[in-house]
Amino acid sequence: MGDDRAFRLGAGLDSVAGGPISVAPFVSDGYFEREKALWRESWLAVGREADVAKPNSYFTADIDVVHASIIVVRGKDGGLRAFHNVCTHRAGRILCDTAKKGRAPFLTCPFHGWVFDTDGELRNIPKEGIFTQGCDKAALALKPVHVATWGGFVFVNLAETPAHSLEQHMAGVPANLEPYLRDRPWTWYAGYRHVFDANWKDLMNIQHEGYHASVLHADTLAVDFAPQDCANTLFPDSPGVSSLLTVSRPVPPPGATWTPTPIQDVAQRNGRTSNWVDNDTSVASRDFPGAVNHEQSDRWVFDCYTIFPNLLIFVGASVVSVMRVLPISAHQTIWDWDWYFDHAPETFGEKFNLEHGRIATRNALAQDWGIIDLVHANMRAGVVDTIHIANEMEATVAALYERVVKAVPLQEGR
Ligand code: FES
Ligand SMILES: [Fe+2]
Repeated sequence: MGDDRAFRLGAGLDSVAGGPISVAPFVSDGYFEREKALWRESWLAVGREADVAKPNSYFTADIDVVHASIIVVRGKDGGLRAFHNVCTHRAGRILCDTAKKGRAPFLTCPFHGWVFDTDGELRNIPKEGIFTQGCDKAALALKPVHVATWGGFVFVNLAETPAHSLEQHMAGVPANLEPYLRDRPWTWYAGYRHVFDANWKDLMNIQHEGYHASVLHADTLAVDFAPQDCANTLFPDSPGVSSLLTVSRPVPPPGATWTPTPIQDVAQRNGRTSNWVDNDTSVASRDFPGAVNHEQSDRWVFDCYTIFPNLLIFVGASVVSVMRVLPISAHQTIWDWDWYFDHAPETFGEKFNLEHGRIATRNALAQDWGIIDLVHANMRAGVVDTIHIANEMEATVAALYERVVKAVPLQEGR
């Protein structure tokens, strides 16, 4: 749980220097090999608790970079557990790709039919008598994985003994954020998955800095963000919370008035999920004090938390979107994006509002997608050894970099 007394917008910026950083962690295959330790030792978000709410429900999550496949399951006893998706007979994959999510009283391996209970215990071996040497069923339970929840997210940690708890990992965030993310009726609405020819850190960096928004997104977001509109907070003392980007709608220049397009006008009259239209989201800070919109500004749009290593949580007034990246190699990364709204649409107007919010965000994301592979290819070209980071609007980039190289030190510049 975060400590609200410790949370202060704008804190921690002097903990990073900005300036040049090495491209090696983005492009070096050798660095990537050493970086694999991160995926074996970090708390990784793999889904939502709501997806395993009922007894016997499960989902699987693959962490390909370390060849791991995990089953997260709600036991008959209500307990939440995670196991390696590896049969203890001959390493069969118990739940295959066609069954990412489901509900079953037992987990049955499709190879020879060994049956495991939802608590991991081995319950049945077909033709058990053929094992004339005997089978110690108790010793052949599924291999457990550490699992914990925060804010309704399910995290796993592949380490034998995690260096710290998930609660410690999330230290520093505002205290009321956790119940806000956990208890509101967040309803999955849409999602994307794509594989980019980019390093996982490229994909993190393009989403948690606001410097590019006025330029790359000039014809989608169509506003000029000043530094205070994309304000950063850093958490140098938190084991897992790297940064917070707080985005606000810019104040129009003197004399300028903002006129919504007819479509924006319809959207904003039907809900609060169309981030970029002129809604008063300060209502969220009145309804959920201490969770969002900490300055109670009528210009606040969203907060984006960067959770080390690979999770971004975009928290809005009625919408939460979640980005996770999972590397395949130094030069290929799986990118997952999911939208959750605080209600399922009941009227056409609400549906219109949600779609407007989704499409407006997707159109801006498409501009990020269009440039990120090229950025990565350019970094690989060997033309530049360093990239330059603004210590204010790009502090989130510097903070992630410093966490990565602290965990995986550079060796002779690579
Ligand atoms: S590998 Fe699972 S039953 Fe044989
Ligand atoms: Fe962007």
